[in-house]
Amino acid sequence: EKGTYPHYMLKEIDEQPVVIRRIIEKYRNDDGGLTVDQDIINAVNDADRIYIIAAGTSYHAGLVGKQFIENWAKIPVEVHISSEFSYNMPLLSEKPLFIFISQSGETADSRAVLVQVKEFGHKCLTITNVPGSTLSRESDYTLLLHAGPEIAVASTKAYTAQLAVLSILAAVAAYGKGRSLEFDLTKELGIVANAMDVLCGQKEEMEAIASEYLSTTRNAFFIGRSVDYYVGLEGALKLKEISYIQAEGFAGGELKHGTIALIENGTPIIALATQEHVNLSIRGNVKEVVARGANPCIISMKGLEEEDDRFVIPSIQPQLAPLVAVVPLQIISYYAALHRGCDVDKPRNLAKSVTVE
Ligand code: M6R
Repeated sequence: EKGTYPHYMLKEIDEQPVVIRRIIEKYRNDDGGLTVDQDIINAVNDADRIYIIAAGTSYHAGLVGKQFIENWAKIPVEVHISSEFSYNMPLLSEKPLFIFISQSGETADSRAVLVQVKEFGHKCLTITNVPGSTLSRESDYTLLLHAGPEIAVASTKAYTAQLAVLSILAAVAAYGKGRSLEFDLTKELGIVANAMDVLCGQKEEMEAIASEYLSTTRNAFFIGRSVDYYVGLEGALKLKEISYIQAEGFAGGELKHGTIALIENGTPIIALATQEHVNLSIRGNVKEVVARGANPCIISMKGLEEEDDRFVIPSIQPQLAPLVAVVPLQIISYYAALHRGCDVDKPRNLAKSVTVE
């Protein structure tokens, strides 16, 4: 039930800190570390390559998950859109592991891939919010998101839960290979949850951003580099699906290869700057679009902020920044849709789970 909340989406955004803390508890072992079933650790560490298969927001979570797994466990990962994979399958490695990411566990496009790869005898792991869902039942292994029911069509808490579970899987796979992380993941996920609490208390500032940049615009662009690019893709999907503003996410460095032609006077550009190693270059990209008349809204992270930044998220472990940086984008999208009179929880033409191919 949505209780005193006007919309499920807002309630589900606010639940995110609790969900992250619940995930830490569910995946904690007796020694206070994080773990998953030994079968899953073995399956991940036996694989010579991981194929992540997902759609929509879950695909965006997969892009970030690839970074965790490659950086920490050093296993190569490919991320594929399920509806493309079925019809245009890449050459597979000798010992692949398939990871399906699906909030509902019912997405037909993803199931079609599962059926195909099971026929080849490949191992499959599903990361889902719904125990007993089709993808979970038909996979060899399941990891649950423990996010509680997600009712709003726009996925919010499932995305951050997917990132948290993927981070745990990547860390556990790394430990299994005798590698250690440079930081304590349990502690850093706790800091992520606290940062989410702070952001959920700053909705007025995000509503002001929605009014200032998005109340009448036809389009909006999200730019970022590295993982900020992936968060931008998710921010754009959120905004387009509930507010009907044409929103796109672009890699900062790709703008000059064509996209910059779209910039007009006043075009809103939401730029993410949470990553130190690309901070200078993304800020350079912002200058390029501002020179063409764009209206920039820079969202940065404490420690990297500059005077003109419109919003600064709390400082967190940089590799986990997507879990936190997405929250203002979710809230800004919510208010943009609300101000434009859209049906936030049930946007037109969309269903919560897409059970047709
Ligand atoms: O249930 P799934 O995670 O498999 O759903 C995948 C997409 O349909 C879903 O993420 C969709 O993109 C959301 N409406 C985005 O908010």
